[in-house]
Amino acid sequence: MRILILGGTGMLGSECRELLGRRHEIIAPPRDALDIVSWDQVIENLQEISPEIILNCAAFADVDGCEENEFAVRKINVEGPRNLAQGAARFGSKLIHISSDYVFDGQKTVPQPYFEDDLVRPLSAYGKSKAESETAVRENSPNYIILRTGWLYSKGGSNFIKSILSVAMKKSTKVLKVVDDQFGSPTWAYRIAHQIETLLNHGGRGTYHATSEGFCSRFEWAAFVLKKLGLKVPIEACSTEEFPRPAMRPVNSILENRLLKKQGINVMRDWKEDLNEFLDLFGEALMREASGA
Ligand SMILES: NC(=O)c1ccc[n+]([C@@H]2O[C@H](COP(=O)([O-])OP(=O)(O)OC[C@H]3O[C@@H](n4cnc5c(N)ncnc54)[C@H](OP(=O)(O)O)[C@@H]3O)[C@@H](O)[C@H]2O)c1
Repeated sequence: MRILILGGTGMLGSECRELLGRRHEIIAPPRDALDIVSWDQVIENLQEISPEIILNCAAFADVDGCEENEFAVRKINVEGPRNLAQGAARFGSKLIHISSDYVFDGQKTVPQPYFEDDLVRPLSAYGKSKAESETAVRENSPNYIILRTGWLYSKGGSNFIKSILSVAMKKSTKVLKVVDDQFGSPTWAYRIAHQIETLLNHGGRGTYHATSEGFCSRFEWAAFVLKKLGLKVPIEACSTEEFPRPAMRPVNSILENRLLKKQGINVMRDWKEDLNEFLDLFGEALMREASGA
């Protein structure tokens, strides 16, 4: 299949380029060649490339940064996907759009998970823009997949594991404080790329949840990483209140991959199993990167 990837330089986009590129023709223009906010660029590129699949991994994904940049967020996270959806409809492409656990308010009692058809009620500018992006896709494209994921990590891009390591590796760090009142499922972007390929192979359609199986708190996630990598820095649990950030996060980000399971195409693994494999492969390199070596 010919697949046009937007956001191909990002964390998830890079994994998708690499994995889907093994069996498909990938075209992944940089942002300056295809800015999804520009209707003209979207249409010109679709006309020229004529992709069967458009995979939108592009976004303004800095959750805190979104609070102060509502104009840019709306352009990139809502108008961009709307352009792609209308373009996909015009040229007969299927659109795969990535959305987020942050469309929910996280008020369900842990460990009750969120299902695909639960009501969205975002808490942050980022979450609101992702919820609106979903509506833009549903209203404008007849053939789409919306894939909601959360708590992504990968060897590239900035993510929670890298943030934890950069603090843990600092000589001046006496104790690492991590919140223990936010729950979710650490998810390897590489596994999401696999899930996307499986969805393509099975002609998936509609709104899917795709996160690792099982869940933990951010504190447990960080502790798992430090232990696995043999880092001895003391780690202490704290509350979100003690660690105020510009954007409000849901307490409960646990998603159930109900539709994937119902269709027998859930390839997502337990979060510990994937994180173990990921750290075996990239732990050393990530520690070197975090220490600036
Ligand atoms: N990270 C997470 O934990 C997480 C969780 C749930 C859902 N998601 C969703 O997963 C998707 C991928 O996230 P990510 O973490 O991989 O993001 P990322 O690493 O920040 O990458 C974002 C990508 O979007 C591109 N981009 C931004 N604005 C663009 C525009 N106007 N036109 C074209 N490209 C543009 C960026 O290009 P430049 O680098 O050139 O600017 C970059 O390649 C997003 O939809 C995000 O909302 C992420």
